[in-house]
This record gives sequence, structure tokens and C-alpha cells, in this order.
Amino acid sequence: MITLISGTNRRGSKTRLVTDIVAGLYREAGADAEVLDLVDLPLELYSPDAYAEKPPGFTPFAERILASHGLVVVAPEYNGSLPGALKLFIDHLKFPESFEERPVAFIGIAAGQWGGLRPVEHLQQIFGHRNAHIYPRRVFIPQVYQAITDGGEVVDPDVDRHLRAQATGFLGFVRALRSEA
Ligand SMILES: Cc1cc2nc3c(=O)[nH]c(=O)nc-3n(C[C@H](O)[C@H](O)[C@H](O)COP(=O)(O)O)c2cc1C
Repeated sequence: MITLISGTNRRGSKTRLVTDIVAGLYREAGADAEVLDLVDLPLELYSPDAYAEKPPGFTPFAERILASHGLVVVAPEYNGSLPGALKLFIDHLKFPESFEERPVAFIGIAAGQWGGLRPVEHLQQIFGHRNAHIYPRRVFIPQVYQAITDGGEVVDPDVDRHLRAQATGFLGFVRALRSEA
């Protein structure tokens, strides 16, 4: 099962739209694909006490990560990096088993011209630190408001091509690693 993380808690985000489009590509390719949206994180997770005692509403998120054969993180660029909610989410997941040797692919999106390069590179550092298997083919979507309509149509053919190539390639990567295990 592939889990796609919509990497912001901003309601109505473009990130969620992109995540749904990409989940559709995985399903078209015959994979089970589910979306985790950080909008749905329990508010108690933002409490200073959540590190000592995880809120019960967080358990399904943590378990979903552990049950995943591969993760796709869709990260918007916020102030030249990843959203704070995404880092908080990562910090609350079980250590080390959440990411240790788990395949992960990254998609960056931004209103601006850098297409989420910076949050993806910051995430690669974090996931590298956590010994994840990082899929090398990343996708960046600059000027996301022009590249993808509010209705979810990918109007930039390069973005469409890169998203499809990543989905196909990442499924092969996940399968190859599982057959090695
Ligand atoms: C708090 C915040 C910070 C942002 N910082 C950047 C930025 O540094 N560079 C950029 O290109 N876009 C920036 N944006 C715009 C987002 O890239 C844009 O909203 C895009 O749609 C992805 O974010 P979304 O998933 O929240 O819609 C920022 C948006 C927010 C809400």
C-alpha cells in the first residue's frame, strides 16, 4: 500500500489537490493508494503535552505510516522550507520504525518559481537522517496555480509527464526493495 501525505494543514490547499491527482495515478497503475491529510491531525497534537502522551486521534496516522510499503510526500513551499505542521507530524511518528528502510518519494509544489525544491531538499535531509530509502526521481511543480486548475486538471504537460514517470518508477522501486527483503 502506498500512502500519500498531503504535507500541510492549510485548509483548501493546492497540496491536497495535487495529492489526490497523484493518488489517482497510483490507482490507475493498479496500486492501493491512500491519502493522509494533515488537515485531519487532532488539535491535541499541537499541545506541549503531546510528546509525553500521544492523543488517541493520532494513532491511525502513526499506524498508517507503519503499514505503508511506500510513502509519497507532497510538500508545499512555506517560507523557503516545509510547513511546520509537516515537521511536527514527522516528529511525533514512532522512532525509528516509521521511516527506517521505508521507500519514500517527494513532490514539491510552490506558487513561486522554485517549485518546492527547497522543502524537498530539506525533507531529503530529514528522511536521510532517518535511514529511509529515498527514491531519486523528484518532481517539482513551480507556479502551481498555472500548472494545475482548481478543478484538478494538470494543464502543464511536463508536470503531467513527470508525475506519471515518478509514480511508475516509484512502484518499481518499492517492489524491487520488497523482493530483496
Ligand atoms: C505560510 C505560507 C508560506 C509560503 N511561502 C512560500 C514560499 O516561500 N515560496 C513560494 O513559492 N510560495 C510560498 N507560499 C505559497 C504556496 O507555495 C502556495 O500557497 C501553493 O499553493 C502551495 O501551498 P498550499 O498547498 O498551501 O496551497 C506560501 C504559502 C503559505 C501559506
